[in-house]
Amino acid sequence: MPNPIIIKDRITKFNKKITVSGDKSLSIRWVLFSSLANGVSKAKNLLISEDVLASINAIRKLGIKVKLTRKLCKVYGKGIDGYKYRKNLTINAENSGTLGRLILGLLINASNPIKLIGDKSLSKRDFKRISDPLSKFGADFKLKNSKNLPLTILGSSNLKPIKYFEKKGSAQCKSAVIFGGMRTDGTTFIKAKKSRNHSELLCKYLNLPIKIQSKNSYDVIKIKKVKKIKTLNYNIPSDISSSAFFIVLTALSKNSSLLIKNININPSRTGIITILKKMGVKIILKNKKIYKGEKNANIFIQSSKKLKSINCPTKLNSGAIDEFLVIFLVAAKAEGISYFKDLAELNQKESPRLKWGAKILNKMGIKTITTKNSIKIFGNPDLKVNNEIVIKDYLKDHRVFMTCVIAALSFEGKSIWNIHNKDAIQTSFPNFLNIIKDLKNDK
Ligand code: S3P
Repeated sequence: MPNPIIIKDRITKFNKKITVSGDKSLSIRWVLFSSLANGVSKAKNLLISEDVLASINAIRKLGIKVKLTRKLCKVYGKGIDGYKYRKNLTINAENSGTLGRLILGLLINASNPIKLIGDKSLSKRDFKRISDPLSKFGADFKLKNSKNLPLTILGSSNLKPIKYFEKKGSAQCKSAVIFGGMRTDGTTFIKAKKSRNHSELLCKYLNLPIKIQSKNSYDVIKIKKVKKIKTLNYNIPSDISSSAFFIVLTALSKNSSLLIKNININPSRTGIITILKKMGVKIILKNKKIYKGEKNANIFIQSSKKLKSINCPTKLNSGAIDEFLVIFLVAAKAEGISYFKDLAELNQKESPRLKWGAKILNKMGIKTITTKNSIKIFGNPDLKVNNEIVIKDYLKDHRVFMTCVIAALSFEGKSIWNIHNKDAIQTSFPNFLNIIKDLKNDK
């Protein structure tokens, strides 16, 4: 079923305050940490999207009670050893790499085999990057094609701490091993290329036995077996990865401005802000606060008259890893050739995003040169898109869908966009199209 959105009109001037949904990484982590706590944890502004609902279903399958209303989520944790590993248990991570990978770290002591399945997109993704380190603790894995879902994990009651060097800059790999370390006697040692550090900050906030040393391009983490976790009441800040679409929409629109409220601006996530500022976008962070170890702020953006190309420093890659598709739209409108490199990980996401980034730009009439891990984008500030563009068969990647909507609304010309699978937004940002509707009505 195509279930398309058809976009013929550009967005005109808007000046608004908006709120985007709760942060996905923090929402999933909150669900998992709360499931191990002793007692009832409560969250407000939890992202209610398919990835987070899959996380809630996963802990329910492990015997943890959850009460969810639109305003409040309550998780009735039963302690670090509170999971019930029933026979023939299947957990469905659906589209969520974060859930599928992180939860395996918590299952390394499972006393019965547990099957992990996912949707078509997740079933194409690499799980060997998780089973490799977790099997060193003593868990056993069987994977389809030795690297994919469905997989079966059989835990061990005789876990041994490991030394692990995470080289890809994957927060999911790092977090899965932190969770494994939390279940294992002795000290687990992780040297990890810098990536988002929400798991570590939550461990610290909860006073768990973790030590972190920050070096230039990597962190050294030591984690010991956890005996008890206190409950975690959390007001989840909004998601910078969801804001990214509106940051770019504003940057590309004329005479517009936007204030996006209470966004998590953890420095390991703000690559998009640094990159876009270098490209000439006006962005100001207002009202900065620290909440439970995480930095939050309001983000103010104004339309940009002149955009500059960028040779993007690779040290900014990990902090912008989910935002490159929309950043490529800014490069398309910038003066000159932009170059993004060392981005092989982008092709490991919900869809091969480096390929999709090029495909979208090419359909718009922008020249690109791509390799396995890089893209050159030949920007054109005067670009007018006048053709009919159909976007389909993209594995329902939510960020491909939303990027195309932003492109359709921003670039001048008489284009007609036909973007299939509107429901892709349910993965991470169900309110996305409603916010667009509000901005369109703000004349
Ligand atoms: C995430 C880590 C990143 C990111 C994903 C969420 C997380 O994936 O792309 O959307 O919450 O830990 P990798 O660990 O594969 O880089």
